[in-house]
Amino acid sequence: MDLTDSRILITGGAGFIGSHLTERLLAEGNDVVVVDDFSNSQRSTLPSSVELIEGDLTDRDLVSEVIDSRIDGVFHLAARKSVNDEDPREQFEANTAMTYNVLEAMDDAGVSEIAFTSSSTVYGEAPRPTPEDYAPLEPISVYGASKLADESLLSTYAHTHGMTVWNFRFANIVGSGLRGAVIPDFIEKLQANPETLTILGNGLQEKSYMYIEDCLDAMFHVIEHADRPMNTVNLGTRTTTSVNRIADIVSDELGLDPDYEYTGGERGWTGDVPKMRLSIEKLTGMGWDGELESDNAVRRTASELIAEMVR
Ligand SMILES: NC(=O)c1ccc[n+]([C@@H]2O[C@H](COP(=O)([O-])OP(=O)(O)OC[C@H]3O[C@@H](n4cnc5c(N)ncnc54)[C@H](O)[C@@H]3O)[C@@H](O)[C@H]2O)c1
Repeated sequence: MDLTDSRILITGGAGFIGSHLTERLLAEGNDVVVVDDFSNSQRSTLPSSVELIEGDLTDRDLVSEVIDSRIDGVFHLAARKSVNDEDPREQFEANTAMTYNVLEAMDDAGVSEIAFTSSSTVYGEAPRPTPEDYAPLEPISVYGASKLADESLLSTYAHTHGMTVWNFRFANIVGSGLRGAVIPDFIEKLQANPETLTILGNGLQEKSYMYIEDCLDAMFHVIEHADRPMNTVNLGTRTTTSVNRIADIVSDELGLDPDYEYTGGERGWTGDVPKMRLSIEKLTGMGWDGELESDNAVRRTASELIAEMVR
């Protein structure tokens, strides 16, 4: 996919990752078309130079209208991303319908290049660091199951409809604008009560946190350096950060020293994978290296989010 002077469609482009991606693609001289229903985002995250289509991507007719032959490539980010969605069946159906609609419409319009945002959750509780060829893939959440189903659809279109797919399995991506995740949650809780912080689980959950700008750099690097029909690549960091450590970092950034209280158990919620670290050998083997390790990605994000809240 040519990432300069092209016309790129981003599904879910108003969301956390999508809005950063939009900015980056505009800066590289691309025309950016965003489709989003704002179910988990706001219009105000997008600059006015974006061509914005408000709509629900589970609507097949809408998707086929939006994807025409003028589109050079697609970043498919739209998804219901909660690991404990209140209606898991609806989540599974929505996520897979969106992906199928996008692939079908691309095929009809002769658009053949797509980048997809999958997730570490497809691996379930696999040994770490988990490489891309780890098997069997046994997700433990409907969200993870929907991503794995999406990957299967993408693979089918890659191998039988001549498409090129860049399938990114993300660790936790963090940075400014992040919502509904542990770092902003701790900041909000501590602003409400600076004395005591309630931590979901036992605080020992340990995951890889990748900074958004590193994530975008890595995606662009892989798109430039991989050209098989289906290119599946983990994006993450070599190190991990525990939930206790995140609590320490956030408290430190706020200048607080709270007591911690635990809800108990080894995972924060049903379907939570308590320890996650992806192998990034494939990514680094392509000549890429990130700037921020996990703890630093968390710290920079905490500091940016605190500054955003004060503004
Ligand atoms: N943030 C992470 O750490 C992370 C990790 C792994 C995978 N991912 C994946 O990356 C992608 C982007 O994640 P994010 O953190 O930016 O999430 P996000 O929720 O901020 O962005 C998703 C966007 O999709 C939109 N959307 C959802 N359903 C839609 C529908 N039916 N029609 C149109 N728009 C719809 C939402 O309004 C939102 O703007 C998702 O596919 C997510 O599963 C994210």
